[in-house]
Amino acid sequence: MSKDVFTHHRPQWKTHIGFLLAAIGSAVGLGNIWRFPYLCYKNGGGAFLLPYFIALFVVGIPLMILEIALGHKMRGSAPASVAGIDKKWEWIGWWQVILGMIGILLYYAVVISWCVNYFFFAFSGAWTSDPNAFFFQKFLMVSSSPFEIGDLRTPILFGLMLVWFFQWLIVFLGVQKGLERANKIFMPLLIALTAIIVIWSVRLPGAGQGIALYLRPQFGKLKDIRVWMDAFSQIFFTLSLGFGVILAYASYLPKKSQIVKDSFIICMVNCLFSVFAGFGVFSVLGYMAQSTNQPISDVVSESIGLAFVVYPKAISLLPAFSREFGLIFFAILVIAGLSSGISILEGITSAIIDKFHYPRKVVVSVLSVIGFLGGMIFTTRAGLLWLDIVDHFVTHYGIIIAAILECFLVGWIFKAKKLREHINHCGVWELKKWWWDVSVKVAAPLILVGLLLTTIFEEIAAPYGNYSRLATIVIGRDWILITVFIALFAASSSWKVDPRHRMLDLEKN
Ligand code: PHE
Repeated sequence: MSKDVFTHHRPQWKTHIGFLLAAIGSAVGLGNIWRFPYLCYKNGGGAFLLPYFIALFVVGIPLMILEIALGHKMRGSAPASVAGIDKKWEWIGWWQVILGMIGILLYYAVVISWCVNYFFFAFSGAWTSDPNAFFFQKFLMVSSSPFEIGDLRTPILFGLMLVWFFQWLIVFLGVQKGLERANKIFMPLLIALTAIIVIWSVRLPGAGQGIALYLRPQFGKLKDIRVWMDAFSQIFFTLSLGFGVILAYASYLPKKSQIVKDSFIICMVNCLFSVFAGFGVFSVLGYMAQSTNQPISDVVSESIGLAFVVYPKAISLLPAFSREFGLIFFAILVIAGLSSGISILEGITSAIIDKFHYPRKVVVSVLSVIGFLGGMIFTTRAGLLWLDIVDHFVTHYGIIIAAILECFLVGWIFKAKKLREHINHCGVWELKKWWWDVSVKVAAPLILVGLLLTTIFEEIAAPYGNYSRLATIVIGRDWILITVFIALFAASSSWKVDPRHRMLDLEKN
């Protein structure tokens, strides 16, 4: 096959806004609506915003620029781009997309399935009498240890089937007809529905009390290293960085692209969306505290509980239109979840197509079946516990290590300067050396290594959560190790077309 097939016949976004909406769709997800508000609350309210925005400017935006620029320059998925730099390191690109698929998407699709179920429960108000018992005992039927798997929960399994069907369909239809079209519908809908919920919530009695708690800084918490770790890992998760997702989306950009400007837009819209959604969530909590006469700290529970226990409870207390409120809230979660899920699926799909040249339809179908079958473990009675452990290990170790390797590869092997020149050649917003090169080569990797080492030491002293050490090793560490082995295997075969041929040279082409 001639090299032209891969350089000139790559799918492309039909419109620039199509790319922006798809990238924002990937970034805005379940992480913005239940993870972010809870992290804020847990880590000192308004004081969390400080490490969060520091993480955004020190690593978030620089790495977003890096991923968009690399995908654009190499015109390829993560493995193709990394192999284009140096074939020795190709496994890192594979590791990123496999970590996205096996480390995130398998459980992420299950959480969307919970949301689908809760959307239907909102019709009947099934959770009303005791949302806590409903979620843990009736719906999930959580077992007492991760090793007591128990049977599959049929409603979750059906929901999962539905989620995988939609993800399969959208990615199957391709870049323009699938991803671009879906996001053009999803994103305006998501923003409109969220605006309705937030405006509705902030006007509830007691909302001010919730918002005060959300924004009140507790600077003492900044001394705790875990707050910083939470902020940095949340930034990667929420911006979809480190999984080869943004890289794949950027590889479908046309030659003339505004890399720096687009990166800023995507990052800012995503983070402001989080802060905005947080107002809605905390207003409702304030309302609930007031109407049940309890202090607000008593009504907020753990992360997963916030969306599936506390929020449903608050919704059922609403004086009017509580069913509509519930429907909209869970519709938002489903839409936000799907637009992120498809981006992860596209990241690995494009990786396999780039290297092995199998037809898209076959790749997506096989991956969807694997995704559905693999996700079944999270639909068992031990599912919540597995999900919690896998999520912790992937977001606190997997992404961080992947990001350190990415910085090293681009900053030192490919050379930050070379990529910066490419970026500045494309766009009107000039990227400055003192900020970007320093961040990619030195600041980001050093901070991430520091955080990683501290977390490892802390966890050796006391394993994550209240789980046994065995559970965290077998489910957490080994889950990540499996993804490394698959990546090494995928990288071991040879390329039909040298990935260096993809590289876009703006001065020549
Ligand atoms: N950014 C998404 C969210 O916040 C999750 C995600 C992670 C999407 C990794 C793609 C890749 O929910």
